[in-house]
Amino acid sequence: MSATDSQRMEKIVSLCKRRGFIFQSSEIYGGLNGLWDYGPLGVELKRNLKNYWWRVMVHERDDVVGMDGSILMNRAVWKASGHEDTFSDPMVDCLLTQRRFRADQIEPQSGTVLHFAGAVDEKLLRETFDYTFGDIDELKRRELEEHYRQCKSLDDLTKHPNADVREFAKTRLGQIARPIRLDEPFSVLLPKGKPPESARKIAIQYYQQRGLANPTVSGERTEKVENTTRYNPENGSLLTEPRSFNLMFKTYVGATEDESSVTYLRPETAQAIFVQFKNVLDVSRKKLPFGIAQIGKAFRNEINPRNFTFRSREFEQMELEYFCRPEEGMKLLEYWKEERLRFYENIGIPTNHLHVLTVPDEERAFYSKGTYDIEYDFPFGRQELEGVAYRTDYDLSQHQKASGKSLEYFDEETKQKFIPHVIEPSAGVDRTVLALICEAYSEDEAPDEKGKMETRTVLRFHPRVAPVKCAVFPLLKNKEPLVAKAKEIVRLLRPHMFVFYDESGAIGRRYRRQDEVGTPFGVTVDFETLGEKDVALKDTVTLRERDSMKQERVAIKDLAAILVSRIS
Ligand code: GAP
Repeated sequence: MSATDSQRMEKIVSLCKRRGFIFQSSEIYGGLNGLWDYGPLGVELKRNLKNYWWRVMVHERDDVVGMDGSILMNRAVWKASGHEDTFSDPMVDCLLTQRRFRADQIEPQSGTVLHFAGAVDEKLLRETFDYTFGDIDELKRRELEEHYRQCKSLDDLTKHPNADVREFAKTRLGQIARPIRLDEPFSVLLPKGKPPESARKIAIQYYQQRGLANPTVSGERTEKVENTTRYNPENGSLLTEPRSFNLMFKTYVGATEDESSVTYLRPETAQAIFVQFKNVLDVSRKKLPFGIAQIGKAFRNEINPRNFTFRSREFEQMELEYFCRPEEGMKLLEYWKEERLRFYENIGIPTNHLHVLTVPDEERAFYSKGTYDIEYDFPFGRQELEGVAYRTDYDLSQHQKASGKSLEYFDEETKQKFIPHVIEPSAGVDRTVLALICEAYSEDEAPDEKGKMETRTVLRFHPRVAPVKCAVFPLLKNKEPLVAKAKEIVRLLRPHMFVFYDESGAIGRRYRRQDEVGTPFGVTVDFETLGEKDVALKDTVTLRERDSMKQERVAIKDLAAILVSRIS
């Protein structure tokens, strides 16, 4: 991320908090990594996005129905889908700080590696030597003798017949025994330009953590490396070998916490659709191709939640499983990719800010015949917003096999039974909200009260998704007829849209406050509205458009219709 992009991202995060879009979850207790709460404006934005998705994906189509599955499902679902065995990321831990990283997200680094064969506590070594040869004062000698005596008796107890005693002795010995040397190799990557002493300091900290009180590193040698991912990018410490880490949150259903009650918080909404396929098919009496849509929470114990809400541990998905005949699969994959691009255009994310990545064969799930990732240029880089995947008949086949229940479709025309194939456009609500905010964020110049130009922060949301659609202002708050008229307009508009009434501060300030949260329209009730200057203007208001800041005079009776046509 360039310096300007990172500044832009900082401004966006700060605006989100300041104006009530997104807060850190449990903030007053220091937060919880990867979890976020949506404030009064964030929740409106999110709702508008979900409602628009539902409108175009379900209500405006004859071939899609909706459902709302539970978050907890029978564990058998996750066994059959493959999530229990394979829904994992490779992770590595820093040997010094124990910080965990996703192995595939470590940026390759080059530099010099300092390898150490181990370390010695030279002070303790000297003391032991002096003790052995009697060259030590009386007090120190007694202290060491007592220490060796304790270690010896604990060591004897590690051979005791009783297992509890053996265990206690081992633990205690580990606590009090002071090792003199450790023959454990360790290495540190020294980035270009840094002195070797900094790598030695890291190694000393490592051997201190391993129990040496005053380590002096030994057996040092250097090696030049290129593009290695074996070292912690933050401190150069060696990382563990990659291990797989299942991303599902485990929980127990019912009062007993044993293997029989284990299940998981769902990591995707899709599986509820697959396991209810037959029920939905029977009640909706749809013919192929048809889809089942769902919006709901998903949970993943991400190793490295990051980039604000982009990678969270709790998030929402908007998923469609579109069932079809096998021969239609590839064509429908293209169709849904285009539909989804159109969707983003219609919420204010232009196609030229999106990128379609054709996921290469070797990176696709083995059962998928084709997958597109729709990516967006976030300030922190190009990242996935949505996946459009041709999942073939994999999921339904797996559940049919595991449950023993038929999930076949009977084709009345050909009188054949088969398991339908599926195309899945799967979008993240939170990622799309973040993309909408990033896309909308802009700064321009606008005159202040005295006509002096100042920087204006504007969220240029598409009116369709903007949290507040229209703000209504009486020009002055202490003029009762202006206030009464403005409140009347609020009542007039409320059945049609979310309206915000604001009477405090100079009118220019009130406009700025609304620009900053992306309210596309502002209505001002002034003395002309009351007909005081020109009767022809009675019952008209100024309608201000956020982006151009242009104002037009509009009759109050036409206001609702004009606004509805511009926001729908
Ligand atoms: N059913 C398919 C599926 O879940 P996915 O690519 O793992 O596929 C689909 O997820 C979408 O869900 C992603 O494109 C992204 O928008 C969203 N998503 C996935 N993991 C996320 C996370 N940790 N935080 C926020 N959104 C996430």
